[in-house]
Amino acid sequence: MARKKQYHWGIIDKAKNKLIGRTGFIQWNLEHERTEIGFALSRLYWNQGIITEATRLIIEYGFTHLGFNRIEGRCSYNNAGSARAMEKLGMKWEGILRGQLKMKGEFVDQRMYAILRDDFDSVNNSSTL
Ligand SMILES: CC(C)(COP(=O)(O)OP(=O)(O)OC[C@H]1O[C@@H](n2cnc3c(N)ncnc32)[C@H](O)[C@@H]1OP(=O)(O)O)[C@@H](O)C(=O)NCCC(=O)NCCS
Repeated sequence: MARKKQYHWGIIDKAKNKLIGRTGFIQWNLEHERTEIGFALSRLYWNQGIITEATRLIIEYGFTHLGFNRIEGRCSYNNAGSARAMEKLGMKWEGILRGQLKMKGEFVDQRMYAILRDDFDSVNNSSTL
């Protein structure tokens, strides 16, 4: 299968000068001005707000510099940390994609989240009032 083009930004532990994770755009559709985020972080650093902080910048960049209208995110149904991170990013839960992935021979459901440019603008405009 052909490799997909993706854009990732590395997340660094500055004190240790060590790469600890990544966040970025894992696919996009320019005709519909839509993209999807994906992220991962070393377990040692979980639950410190790192992915939320880094991905907030990616989302801002996607809306203000790349001109996207919709930014999606998906995670396995049981991935509570990832779901919570997307909620903290202002993404709205849109439903369940049933049997979306085949993992270790089992079909698993995914949660679908998204944020629209209008959602992003309304939060940012109200926070600067
Ligand atoms: C998912 C992941 C990227 C989150 O990164 P992170 O930096 O820990 O995320 P944040 O700290 O910004 O936010 C995580 C939130 O989930 C919450 N959380 C974590 N595990 C949870 C659980 N089992 N149940 C409920 N909430 C949970 C945290 O408390 C935090 O919320 P809070 O700030 O309100 O307390 C990281 O855990 C990871 O790399 N997991 C493995 C790879 C992965 O799942 N990638 C995503 C695939 S889409």
